[in-house]
Amino acid sequence: MRGIVLAGGSGTRLHPITQATSKQLLPVYDKPMIYYPISVLMLSGIRDILIISTPTDLPSFARLLGDGSQFGVSFSYAEQAAPNGLAEAFIIGADFVGSDSVALVLGDNIFYGQGFSKILQREAAQLDGATLFGYPVKDPQRYGVGEVDAATGQLVSIEEKPAVPRSNKAITGLYFYDNQVVEIARGLAPSARGELEITDVNVAYLRQNRAKLIDLGRGFAWLDTGTHDSLLEAGQFVQVLEHRQGVRIACLEEVALAMGYITADECYGLGAKLAKSGYGDYVMAVAKAAGSTGD
Ligand code: G1P
Repeated sequence: MRGIVLAGGSGTRLHPITQATSKQLLPVYDKPMIYYPISVLMLSGIRDILIISTPTDLPSFARLLGDGSQFGVSFSYAEQAAPNGLAEAFIIGADFVGSDSVALVLGDNIFYGQGFSKILQREAAQLDGATLFGYPVKDPQRYGVGEVDAATGQLVSIEEKPAVPRSNKAITGLYFYDNQVVEIARGLAPSARGELEITDVNVAYLRQNRAKLIDLGRGFAWLDTGTHDSLLEAGQFVQVLEHRQGVRIACLEEVALAMGYITADECYGLGAKLAKSGYGDYVMAVAKAAGSTGD
């Protein structure tokens, strides 16, 4: 399976913060926002990752992340010239996807929960059609909404930002698809707002009875970063957990080590380069605990 992070958009709801930089480069406490969705792909077992952003912002992502070899993965980059919708990612990334399956994650989505990597790896291995991830929210009208039949557990409807939601299950910005997604995306017509909608992709799979919704449940955190308040709150959430537990969320060096993509000594080397920050100290400590001698 290949992975795409979509980090486009103009971030107008966060102006003036995002007037001169991309939203997905903003800090969520101790690391750039895009680290969080990248960690989700890496924890799914994905090592080939395409980052899509605007022509202006793409060089900043490349400067931050490089070619991925430091994390034992491959990052490549592609431009989305205009905000034509999330589903355009599969058209832009068609060559990158090739004949493989693909996971799309939105660059501003933050997930946190016990056992998440097991769920991700299981769903990647069992993929047949489309796998979506649902999360209960109090304001479902702001999202794609999935309705599940209570008796059978089957997904029965998907609607984009419905005025009257049929359930409280938001469809989060993480999507697993088989290779048919490229053909589906190419066949889409733009919506009323002129975009290729991811919800229309999901509805196409639903019509074929090949869409499934995994319920992430209330014990999980799916955080919003779309407004000044929610961005700050997401950072505070991460800070509270990290301070209390002494571990870091979405630390890509640690994820790469845990997934066996890099060795403990390589991990130590990455930490040493960041040694002036607490983040670097943490990476070095994690590497030592995994057997690095610290050279
Ligand atoms: C997009 C999707 C929506 C999904 C959401 C998740 O909405 O269109 O279905 O629930 O991402 O973050 P947007 O945030 O682009 O309005």
